[in-house]
Amino acid sequence: MKHLIDPTDLSVEEIDSILNLALDIIENKEKYSEVCKGKKLATLFFEPSTRTRLSFEAAMMELGGNVLGFSSADSSSATKGESVGDTIRVVGCYADIIAMRHPKEGAPMLGSMVSPVPIINAGDGGHNHPTQTLTDLLTIKREKGDLNNFTIGLCGDLKFGRTVHSLIKALSRYEGIKFILISPKELKVPDYIITEVFEKNNIDYREVTTMEEVMPELDIIYMTRVQKERFFNEADYVRLKDTYILDKSKLKNAKETLSIMHPLPRVNEISTELDDDPRAAYFRQALNGKFVRMALILTLLGVNV
Ligand code: CP
Repeated sequence: MKHLIDPTDLSVEEIDSILNLALDIIENKEKYSEVCKGKKLATLFFEPSTRTRLSFEAAMMELGGNVLGFSSADSSSATKGESVGDTIRVVGCYADIIAMRHPKEGAPMLGSMVSPVPIINAGDGGHNHPTQTLTDLLTIKREKGDLNNFTIGLCGDLKFGRTVHSLIKALSRYEGIKFILISPKELKVPDYIITEVFEKNNIDYREVTTMEEVMPELDIIYMTRVQKERFFNEADYVRLKDTYILDKSKLKNAKETLSIMHPLPRVNEISTELDDDPRAAYFRQALNGKFVRMALILTLLGVNV
C-alpha cells in the first residue's frame, strides 16, 4: 500500500504516469465516470480549505465513488482529545482512501504509520502540499508542453508557503530548471531547502528581493500568499503582507509567453486586472487540481481502466 506524504514519495516516472492519466481523464471523462463505484474517499480537514477539499470530493464523485468526512477539527472528536492515530484507524474502517489536512507538520505521516488504507497529505502546516504540486506540474505541462528547461520565479512567502517547498522538491528532479527565489529576507526559503535540495543536487538558484529585476528572464512566475495563519506576530504579517503585488505595470518587461501561476487563495498578490490576461493560468491551475486528484485516487487505489 502506498501513501502520498511528501512529493518525493513518487518517482519521476510515477509522477509522469499520474500526469498522463490526468490528461487521458480530461480527454475521455465518460470512460472514468463509474470506475470507483462502491469506493469511498474520506476528507479529514483539520484546517480550512476550498480548492483541495472540494476538488478531492468532486474528483471522487466524477469517478463514480462516494465521499465522507469533516471540514474542520471543531466538528470532529479531535475536540474531545482524540489523537490523529486513533482518528485514522477508525476512519480507515469506513473509507477506502483518506485525504487529510492538518496544521501540524508531520501529522499525515503519523497517520500513515497506522492507517489500514492509503493516506494523502492534503497539506501539513508549513511543510508540504504534494497534491498541489501534482496540480502545479500538470499545469506547467499543459501551459508549457514540457517539465524541463525553464526559469521559474517563486515569489512571496517562501518560508511558510508549503506549496513552494513541495514544488521545489519535485521540480528539482527535472532537467534544466532555473529557480529564482523572490522574497523579503524575513520570508526566505528554509535553510534545509537550500542545502538539501539546491546545493546537494547542484541546482541553479538565486535569491532576490524584487520581481522587477528578474521579470524579463522568467518563463513562469509562481505567486504566493503571505501565510497569515503561520505568523506568531500580527505586526510582522501586516508589514509584509503586501510586499509583492503583480499587476500590469510589473509585466511591462515580461515575456509574452510568461505563465502566471498561484496555488490560491489570493489576497492581494495578483491584481484582478490580470485575470483576463491569457498568461494568467491560476484558474486553469485550480481546475487541473480536480483532474490530477482523480488520477491520484485511481493510482493509489490500484484501479486500472
Ligand atoms: N491551494 C490550496 O491548497 O487551496 P485551499 O487552501 O483552498 O485548499
